[in-house]
Amino acid sequence: MGMVLILIFFFFSLISSISPSYGFDPLDPYGNITIKWDLLLSTSGTNNLMVSIYNFQQYRHVEPPGWKLNWAWKGKEVIWSMQGAEATEQGNCTEFKGSTLPHCCEKEPFIVDLLPGTNYNAQTQNCCKGGVLSSMKQDPSKYVATFQMAVGGSGTNSRFIMPENFNLGVPGYSCGGAVKVEPSRYTTDGGRRWTQAIATWNVTCMYSQSLASPTPRCCVSLSAFYNQTIVSCPRCSCGCQGQPGTKCVKSTDHYLFRRELSSVKTGRYGETPPLLKQNQDPTPVVRCSEHMCPIRVHWHLKQSYKQYWRAKMTVTNFNIMKNYSEWNLVVLHPNLQSLTQVFSFNYAPLNRYGYINDTGMFWGLPFYNDILLQEGKNGNLQTEILLRKDPEIFTFREGWGFPRKIQFNGDECVMPPPDEYPSLPNKGLSAFATTPFIILFSLFLAFML
Ligand SMILES: *[C@@H]1O[C@H](CO)[C@@H](O)[C@H](O)[C@H]1NC(C)=O
Ligand SMILES: *[C@@H]1O[C@H](CO)[C@@H](O)[C@H](O)[C@H]1NC(C)=O
Ligand SMILES: *[C@@H]1O[C@H](CO)[C@@H](O)[C@H](O)[C@H]1NC(C)=O
Ligand SMILES: *[C@@H]1O[C@H](CO)[C@@H](O)[C@H](O)[C@H]1NC(C)=O
Ligand SMILES: *[C@@H]1O[C@H](CO)[C@@H](O)[C@H](O)[C@H]1NC(C)=O
Ligand SMILES: *[C@@H]1O[C@H](CO)[C@@H](O)[C@H](O)[C@H]1NC(C)=O
Repeated sequence: MGMVLILIFFFFSLISSISPSYGFDPLDPYGNITIKWDLLLSTSGTNNLMVSIYNFQQYRHVEPPGWKLNWAWKGKEVIWSMQGAEATEQGNCTEFKGSTLPHCCEKEPFIVDLLPGTNYNAQTQNCCKGGVLSSMKQDPSKYVATFQMAVGGSGTNSRFIMPENFNLGVPGYSCGGAVKVEPSRYTTDGGRRWTQAIATWNVTCMYSQSLASPTPRCCVSLSAFYNQTIVSCPRCSCGCQGQPGTKCVKSTDHYLFRRELSSVKTGRYGETPPLLKQNQDPTPVVRCSEHMCPIRVHWHLKQSYKQYWRAKMTVTNFNIMKNYSEWNLVVLHPNLQSLTQVFSFNYAPLNRYGYINDTGMFWGLPFYNDILLQEGKNGNLQTEILLRKDPEIFTFREGWGFPRKIQFNGDECVMPPPDEYPSLPNKGLSAFATTPFIILFSLFLAFML
């Protein structure tokens, strides 16, 4: 029996080590970002378009600095005007001699969202969030961004031609070509009349963890009330100290820290900064550790009651350059189907295949702990969860009380190997758990972690 369970664990860790490289996330199989182009009006020489970006992902979100949409016109199109967003460069508009110049004459324009609070007439519905898109679960009211533009220019006849080579400008995403779909419909007069776009195209963008970052960015450590061993993150989970391309600082002491940081930035350690591929995140600057990950999630199996058990999760930020806003955690554990209480985090089950709910998403409470601050600024957050012991499946044996998989902001965390999980002492749990020593020890852990 024990052997079988260990094999199952290996199977899970095998799956988890394979899945990211394919750009397919089994916990969010249909997740994608769709860019929809609606051609609203087409008169001689000018085309009015509405572009909407939908984040159709359960938990992955687009963080600051936000999306920066880019495409390539097929002809000599220019953007005459834009509302709800802006092109970063106007480009070379010397061909136009009129009293007003186009908004953007670039062949491959880069479009960014307006900042919140922008008070131009330039606003549209769903604009002006600084390029941030939340996930569908976390904030369904903020998962769409919309802007409008008038496209025209020399040489184009009135027929609008969709551009190509779309890029979302967010690390990890790659986009396909535009596909013509059923025209969008809009309701007016309280639903009594419907109008529709002249034509609609969809562009689908998919996330791949290996495209976003060549190394993992998160790891998991474990402990349990019944065993003194703290199983730390595997060594070199996200890189090794001293390896070229890794950046870490040893101390967050104010003076030393600044000195070390400036030497990291100027590359005084003799390392050449690695070339960034397009769509890749820059290497984070972290505090030096054995694991070198920007994020560590600690799972502590805290207490066992007659009918319930309690676990504590602590998320620690080792990244000294970054606050994670709207962070989230996805946890896979078979007992989440009987989750009874979650303290100080939000929770939503992710019933990806309808019938099994062994997966759930945790995120911070707005204005309370929805930002995970940078290392050195109290960069950790914690929650406790209470779960009911399901009679058929519950056991503390073979590391069952530990999660199968954890993702931080949609990226998979490196787990310790299953044969190193804190194991139950042989005497049997009930006798052991009541010894005063163990109670004291779990109190100690509770304060430490
Ligand atoms: C993108 O996500 C939407 C919503 O979940 C889904 O309907 C659509 O099929 C997905 N597209 C692709 C190409 O996966
Ligand atoms: C701008 O475009 C015009 C004609 O399209 C060209 O003659 C001129 O050299 C361009 N200027 C720059 C600075 O590229
Ligand atoms: C195109 O995108 C819209 C919204 O983004 C979505 O509702 C629609 O289902 C998509 N169509 C196809 C065929 O994917
Ligand atoms: C993170 O947030 C803290 C507190 O709001 C702020 O002092 C710090 O400058 C922020 N760090 C970054 C990198 O933005
Ligand atoms: C499990 O799924 C069922 C039905 O989908 C739902 O009613 C229940 O709230 C879920 N339980 C938890 C703890 O997520
Ligand atoms: C605690 O767990 C470790 C790692 O699995 C194991 O080697 C050790 O024997 C356990 N200690 C006790 C007291 O059971």
